[in-house]
Amino acid sequence: MSQTKILEIVDLNMEYEAGVSVVKNISFDVYEGEFLSILGASGCGKTTLLRMLVGILPPTSGRILKRGQDILKTPPYHRGMGIVFQNYALFENMTVLKNVTYAMKVHKIPDYEQQAETLLRRMGLWELKDKKPASLSGGQQQRVAIARTMVLKPDVILFDEPLSALDVSTRLLMRHEIKALQAELGVTMIYVTHDQEEAFAMSDRIMVMHQGRIEQLGTPEELIDHPACDYVRRFVGENLSMKLRDLERFRRTDS
Ligand SMILES: Nc1ncnc2c1ncn2[C@@H]1O[C@H](COP(=O)(O)OP(=O)(O)OP(=O)(O)O)[C@@H](O)[C@H]1O
Ligand SMILES: [Mg+2]
Repeated sequence: MSQTKILEIVDLNMEYEAGVSVVKNISFDVYEGEFLSILGASGCGKTTLLRMLVGILPPTSGRILKRGQDILKTPPYHRGMGIVFQNYALFENMTVLKNVTYAMKVHKIPDYEQQAETLLRRMGLWELKDKKPASLSGGQQQRVAIARTMVLKPDVILFDEPLSALDVSTRLLMRHEIKALQAELGVTMIYVTHDQEEAFAMSDRIMVMHQGRIEQLGTPEELIDHPACDYVRRFVGENLSMKLRDLERFRRTDS
């Protein structure tokens, strides 16, 4: 993991309703090329945080810097960040190919057809290029959603529980695919999940959120060996040995 910061989040606060913070003045840094998971119970503010980072939700206060530049006023499509949602959010009336090329055309990317083909082949989607989303499996749809985001070459990709609707074996396969894509492209990934095992298996660092605050941000080993508080200890502490085994197994099969 690089020591260069790609994002600096400073005192970020979100109140949907005046006086009720759901993200409470949080600050943290994200490093170039890292895989950072955000782990926390339902309602703790994970999606709210991602929406602020990508630019579709203006924060109540605070700052977001990318490579040292304040990007709060930068519209989403100029932030160089992409987001992949849990429910895929594909265009149902368009083919796989059109789903992937739509934004490229809007962005007037030259040579977009060639680039889209290369990526679709790389992701095993080329044979499906003329199909509509409804005729694809969940895993295939999520792969299209990832391709659609990747094709714009963002330097940060945000994932909001991208695998939680998939069955276990597809989920395991997709974990490896996402990590392989990251290794190949060197892109920074911020990955929201409920699933502790997933976070421990995939991440360089894990951020544990609770009620709008960061309880701890550290490597999987740090969270296990030095939990910052009882909440983290309870949250990551269950089935500790199982998680360590998973972590080792995943890293072995990964290399
Ligand atoms: N548009 C909105 N208007 C008002 N309150 C909202 C809105 N969106 C989210 N909230 C509230 O903000 C809090 C954080 O929600 P958020 O969706 O960020 O949680 P989350 O951590 O992503 O949860 P989950 O794991 O269930 O997806 C919750 O209490 C939620 O009810
Ligand atoms: Mg959410």
